[in-house]
Amino acid sequence: MNPSSRLSAPKLVSSSRAQVPQGCAGDIEQILISAPRIHRRVMEMAQVIAEDYHGKRLIIVALLNGTVLFLADLVRHFEVPLSLDLIGVSSYRGGTSSGELEFTKRLKLNLRDQHVLVVDDILDTGKTLRAVSEELSKQSPASLKTCVLLDKPEGRTVNLEADYVGFIVPHLFVVGYGLDYDERYRNLPFVGVLHPHVYRKSSDQQS
Ligand code: IMP
Ligand code: MG
Repeated sequence: MNPSSRLSAPKLVSSSRAQVPQGCAGDIEQILISAPRIHRRVMEMAQVIAEDYHGKRLIIVALLNGTVLFLADLVRHFEVPLSLDLIGVSSYRGGTSSGELEFTKRLKLNLRDQHVLVVDDILDTGKTLRAVSEELSKQSPASLKTCVLLDKPEGRTVNLEADYVGFIVPHLFVVGYGLDYDERYRNLPFVGVLHPHVYRKSSDQQS
């Protein structure tokens, strides 16, 4: 897969000037990507993707649950005919990888001869996107590309790059804008770095 040449190169994000809101200040160490910055980039991604698929019917396959906010914002800016389907893959338990990939919800749509764009929240080791791409390829789509909001290249263990990338982030555990830790923080409108005391608290409770 080749990165899209039309989308401006994703920037490596270090931190945002935005203040962490009082309500979650104890759990969020810093805001990496503010809500307005996410909004601007998602609009840009939507425009480029819509141009790339101009005149074609697109099927978007989004991975549950982390893509829900990103997906909603991305597709509302599309002016191309599209269909949406959701696939469930579970690879992480709490904050750490379980190592096992399990399909928890299968697709309804038939992808044969269709143009398919797989959307995920974050590309880390690459195992999830590779497994999903391999699974979807079995249906012989006309084309299959990938789109992620965030990319953590330092985490990669398989040889895979996404075609459309929103932001490059450092090798830290991030939450918000759909991304969770133990099913929490998905509702935050920004992407922030989770404070390590949250993992420590969870592992203390388990032991
Ligand atoms: P991969 O298979 O290692 O590429 O992991 C991709 C999946 O792991 C994503 O779809 C996320 O659900 C999850 N993930 C990886 N890194 C993070 C993170 O920093 N925060 C929240 N979820 C993450
Ligand atoms: Mg995910």
